[in-house]
Amino acid sequence: MRSAAPSAPAALALALLAACSSKPRDKAAGAGARATADGGAIDAAATRRPDGTVALPPAPPVPATPPGLPPLPGDVAPTPAEVALGELLFHEPKLGADGTTACASCHDPARGLSGTEPHPATAAGRPSLRRAPALVNLAWAKEFGWDGRGAGLAGWLPNHARGQLDRTVDDIALTLGASPTYRAHLARTSAGRSDSDTVAAALAGYVVTRFAGGSPWDAHEAGTAGAVGDDVIAGYQVFTGKALCGSCHPPPLYTDHDFHRLGLIASPDDGRGRVDPAQAGAFKTPGLRGAASRARFFHDGSATSLDAAIDWHLAGGRGQGADPSVIDPGLPPVTLTPTERAQLGAFVAALTAAGAAPARPTLPSDLP
Ligand code: HEC
Ligand code: HEC
Repeated sequence: MRSAAPSAPAALALALLAACSSKPRDKAAGAGARATADGGAIDAAATRRPDGTVALPPAPPVPATPPGLPPLPGDVAPTPAEVALGELLFHEPKLGADGTTACASCHDPARGLSGTEPHPATAAGRPSLRRAPALVNLAWAKEFGWDGRGAGLAGWLPNHARGQLDRTVDDIALTLGASPTYRAHLARTSAGRSDSDTVAAALAGYVVTRFAGGSPWDAHEAGTAGAVGDDVIAGYQVFTGKALCGSCHPPPLYTDHDFHRLGLIASPDDGRGRVDPAQAGAFKTPGLRGAASRARFFHDGSATSLDAAIDWHLAGGRGQGADPSVIDPGLPPVTLTPTERAQLGAFVAALTAAGAAPARPTLPSDLP
């Protein structure tokens, strides 16, 4: 299924994926194979050999880092085959123990890979403690989860699959083995690893190549005249100055990769206290690139609009009656004029690239 032409608010998408979608799709890249940017086309182009095995077209190149983002850290080097398989696995509902829950069920691709519900149901039917964060620009993250308890993606993902999909990666690898198409992907991606390790590496490869960049603000910073309005330029001054946002959300990723208490106490959750008791109630600062594509905000999903999330901060996190002594001292109440408030909103919105929502891949049809 191709997505509709860019339109309306739903059209706010990851710059990367939008860029991929604009690549030519039907160019022959070898004997009848099509090198395209998503797994759907890969599956469509896969051919079955007489012996029942599947021949895959070459995996598309690893997505380029869009403008405005730093160079990729040296230890982030996924292969094209990992990313191609990871994309399919991310969207595959048969990965969930219930046969219907995929990674994409909670990390909604139409919402910048972020969660639309405060407590999404796991494949075991249990409510998750927290809202699913946006999976963008994690190539630069070192700690995973809202509390940062995951010290690396390699450790995080298998645990997370068990908790959210109710499946071990061993189990997932076994399931995939029943599909000739997935078997071909596993063989091509393995590089001598076990199927379970290949599954984990593919998911990680897909996750670290989801970028939010190439925003109007990046075009402005690169010198493109007229990329943003004067309100956005004034909003940058408010963001970094009077409103104090820049201290916790500094460019270029608009996160300090640290943990803070914002007075969100309605949903009982120790947050960072799980790792460091002195930081109970603190949560990881999300990056603001792509934030305008999200439907819910904060770890508890309590804010349902970008404006509400911004206003929460400006009120100094006092909205749920938290004792000010347990709110981060870097978050005092700030009073802006209506003009400044509008400019601030315009700036934060300008950190999200416009574009069509990314296409969902067509999944292999031979997985029982
Ligand atoms: C049932 C909903 C659900 C499903 C399914 C799910 N996730 Fe998540 N994901 C979450 C929630 C909730 C969190 C935050 C967890 C926390 O802070 O404790 C999260 C966090 C993450 C993080 C850490 C992000 C960060 O900023 O620290 C990654 C990476 C991730 N998920 C990837 C995946 C992948 C890959 C899959 C499929 C294998 C998946 N998720 C399936 C709900 C889900
Ligand atoms: C003291 C550090 C701090 C300051 C100052 C700060 N933030 Fe935040 N911001 C955070 C943290 C931490 C979170 C996540 C809180 C949570 O979910 O518990 C967050 C969350 C957000 C979110 C929600 C993102 C999402 O995906 O859930 C937005 C939007 C946001 N901040 C914008 C701003 C703006 C605009 C300002 C200035 C008015 C600002 N922040 C000032 C630390 C800060």
